[in-house]
Amino acid sequence: MNPAGQSVVILGTGAYVPERILTNDELTRIVDTTDEWILTRSGIRERHVAAPDQATSDLAVEAARVALADAKLTPADIDLLIIATCTPDAPLPSTATLVHQKLGLGACACFDLAAACSGFLYSLETAEALLRTGRYRHALVIGAEKLTSLTDYQDRTTCILFGDGAGAVVLGLQPGAGTGIVGTKLYADGSASDLIKVTAGGSRRPPSAESVAQREHFIQMRGKEVFKLAVTAMQDAAIELLEKNGVAPDQVKLLIPHQANQRIIDAIAQRMKLPADRVFMNLERYGNTSAASIPIALDEARRSGRIVSGDYVLLVAFGAGLTWASALIRWI
Ligand code: UT7
Repeated sequence: MNPAGQSVVILGTGAYVPERILTNDELTRIVDTTDEWILTRSGIRERHVAAPDQATSDLAVEAARVALADAKLTPADIDLLIIATCTPDAPLPSTATLVHQKLGLGACACFDLAAACSGFLYSLETAEALLRTGRYRHALVIGAEKLTSLTDYQDRTTCILFGDGAGAVVLGLQPGAGTGIVGTKLYADGSASDLIKVTAGGSRRPPSAESVAQREHFIQMRGKEVFKLAVTAMQDAAIELLEKNGVAPDQVKLLIPHQANQRIIDAIAQRMKLPADRVFMNLERYGNTSAASIPIALDEARRSGRIVSGDYVLLVAFGAGLTWASALIRWI
């Protein structure tokens, strides 16, 4: 097969969030905070929390099944699986191989991709490039996180933010250029890697009684600094990608930003002069679900009729690393 002149398109989307909802009011009983502070500083009202026996692969599988049904494909059609996650079930094996087994996939390349909250867009570009080689027919790309497993419920500056969930897309090649994934751009700056981190549990500092006692297995974030960098980086990434592809901001039907903070999203929309109805927001209900945030939002936007054929959809993400990324899609 020669994929020249073909587009890589999204054939189906799916999402899953666990049943249990953790409200701001409940958090006020755990840490010194208020519903009003959380809502005004972040825009979050509630988040979903996975059950103790649910791991990231379980969330991923649920989202993947919905996306496969939406694409009208079966597991046998998938020959590339990428899972964006910073909360794998375990260091080994990859969460992708666990999902491979649970979905009953056949001959298929499977791997996890670690780029924190930008992981879904990093995976989207990777899958697009691999499909364009002509060696794969259909890719399943999943952003899945059990972020509450890294959340310190003694730290009020972070525990109010994070939630669990998964979102998935099925990608395939379609004749004709100019639809589907029009462009993507990935960025990183390791010099700011200290701003969002988990200090123990890896090869630098393997788990020990001391690392557990010092709560080093949880996310630590310098929120204010991250906030400022996120606004600028996401604005620039969005605008740069539009300019590169000759698309004006007012041609964008829907901006779907990583759902980290309402004030960050408002600032991006303001700079791009996008009215509220062209900006997708669901963080009120889910909080920050890292790599799952954009694919969950994409699925909801589609199913609620906010994206139709021919629409330009702009995705933009930012997270630990630091990493950030943008993707422009012309919906089929
Ligand atoms: O997904 C990856 C990317 N992540 C992000 O983009 C997150 C970016 N950062 C943020 O969203 C915001 O920085 C936060 C929502 C995390 C925090 O909002 P902020 O407006 O930057 O607050 P702050 O950290 O400057 O804290 C303001 C005050 C502090 O008190 P003092 O020092 O002014 O007395 C905090 O101690 O609010 C206090 N505070 C809280 N008060 C009540 C911090 N957390 C809480 C809390 N409840 N949960």
